[in-house]
Amino acid sequence: MTDLVLSEINDGIHVVRLNRPDKKNALTQEMYAVMADAVCGADDNPEVRVVVFTGCEDAFTSGNDLKDFLNAPATGADSPVTRFLRGLGATSTPIVAAVNGMAVGIGTTMLLHCDFVYAAENARFHMPFINLALVPEAASSLLLPRVAGYRKAAELLLLGEPFDAATGVEAGLVTGIVANDALMETAMATAAKLAAKPPAALRQTKALMRTDHADIEAAMTAELNLFGPCLTSPEAKEAMTAFFEKRAPDFSKFS
Ligand code: COA
Repeated sequence: MTDLVLSEINDGIHVVRLNRPDKKNALTQEMYAVMADAVCGADDNPEVRVVVFTGCEDAFTSGNDLKDFLNAPATGADSPVTRFLRGLGATSTPIVAAVNGMAVGIGTTMLLHCDFVYAAENARFHMPFINLALVPEAASSLLLPRVAGYRKAAELLLLGEPFDAATGVEAGLVTGIVANDALMETAMATAAKLAAKPPAALRQTKALMRTDHADIEAAMTAELNLFGPCLTSPEAKEAMTAFFEKRAPDFSKFS
């Protein structure tokens, strides 16, 4: 068990707190494994009625660990990240996200599967896949145009620039913006309300609203089929090496 993710169940609320502050909560495979267990096990765990994801200090998460990306980790069906993504799309247990600071890559796309997303005033979102020569994941290529509209989705995914919490609301990603120091209190208050509801009807209600399960599965499969090969492309190697060398990437030599 890693201490890079703190996982605690109390009063029906499973709080999953990302806890790798020195790397802005960059996600490793072992961290994804804990996150995957939380979402995949929730429906069948009578102790869990709602899952809450949050970060620590000034970061929700900086997304996938770029060192892992450089080493081209497994993105196959049994990999922790794939289990996490599939679990997010499939679970009927409500999920609440409390976003503090940066939410990058999967840190933003996972929010498309959360039922309540509270953003602290300091929250910043970013889907930089294009800048890393990657494609979007978590079915965001399907879900983002649906919730944000094509124009906004194109702006966020094709330009790959960071955006603030107000833009997150406008794009349909964020339920509400709260003061930094009220973030957890707000998220936990909603979680407590959900945990007090009749559990079977709660899960059934969420499942009824998620009739697009097959579409989500298909989008995730299409994305993952491209994502793996993208990870090993020369363009991606240049983008990620540039990050660690603290310089701008140079894509001019690629056709
Ligand atoms: N993978 C691996 N390491 C990461 C990381 C990531 N995704 N994000 C941050 N880190 C590391 C940095 O390399 C740095 O390590 P160091 O102290 O050993 O040099 C440390 O975390 C702190 O990051 P830093 O960039 O100094 O913090 P910042 O506050 O200036 O910027 C971010 C924070 C999140 C904006 C910036 O780190 C960033 O853009 N990270 C990459 C995000 C990304 O592209 N993720 C993949 C999405 S698909």
